[in-house]
Amino acid sequence: MTQFTEVHAAIRQRYGAIAEQRSSCCGPTDCCGETSGATSLYNTTLLEELPADVTDLSLGCGDPVTIAGLSAGERVLDLGSGGGIDCFLAARQVGPTGHVIGVDMTPAMLSKANANKARLGVENVEFREGQIEALPVEDESVDVVMSNCVINLAPDKLAVFREAFRVLRPGGRIAISDIVTEGEFSDELRADLSRWAECVTGAIDVNTYVALMRQAGFTEITVTDKRSAEEIVPIQPGMPRVYSARITAVKSK
Ligand SMILES: C[S@@+](CC[C@H](N)C(=O)[O-])C[C@H]1O[C@@H](n2cnc3c(N)ncnc32)[C@H](O)[C@@H]1O
Repeated sequence: MTQFTEVHAAIRQRYGAIAEQRSSCCGPTDCCGETSGATSLYNTTLLEELPADVTDLSLGCGDPVTIAGLSAGERVLDLGSGGGIDCFLAARQVGPTGHVIGVDMTPAMLSKANANKARLGVENVEFREGQIEALPVEDESVDVVMSNCVINLAPDKLAVFREAFRVLRPGGRIAISDIVTEGEFSDELRADLSRWAECVTGAIDVNTYVALMRQAGFTEITVTDKRSAEEIVPIQPGMPRVYSARITAVKSK
């Protein structure tokens, strides 16, 4: 059982406030609330027919749904589902015989996601409250785990990967968009919880990230298409290089 730390509290405060503000106003943003919107992350044809209430609350740093290569009938879990954009895109691709679960720890985000679900009238999506370090999901019950700009926020990333591995069926896969670094942040920078909650100082070196995935049991790990995060998050002198990466792996049979 994971603990609710002061990092979790800072994250929940930030994303709770974003969810509440977006219900009344604000233009498009992405990647943890800072830049230019879902259209910069997804192929625009994917976004057709999604209302602005969904696309304006896109806070990711990539498109894990496309990375996942979903098929009809698959069961999908989204770690840190936010306003639900990736769950709704996945729901279309897995169709009525498939099922999508989004897990998030921020009540205001879950309210937004459920309001969006009702508005869209989708039945193959559900949102569950919980921490991604202790998933409210059965063992070996999903085909695909995906996540968009969330694992960098978790203080215990090994716990997240172990939980993702636990809930995947043997032969299942994980598709991640996330912020990683080359080199590590100093302890001083890590102590800045507001920058951590902005998806900056919680990010870890990509080699460490891959090693933690391997330690959790994942194989065939790939890291591709790194995009400089300077266009996503403001970078300061003294920081390591920060990237948005596409990461995939499997739970072998
Ligand atoms: C940067 S937003 C990304 C939201 C969504 N994936 C997207 O692309 O729009 C991060 C989300 O992850 C959730 N989150 C962060 N850490 C979490 C944790 N440890 N457990 C559960 N949810 C978490 C936050 O509440 C927030 O909704």
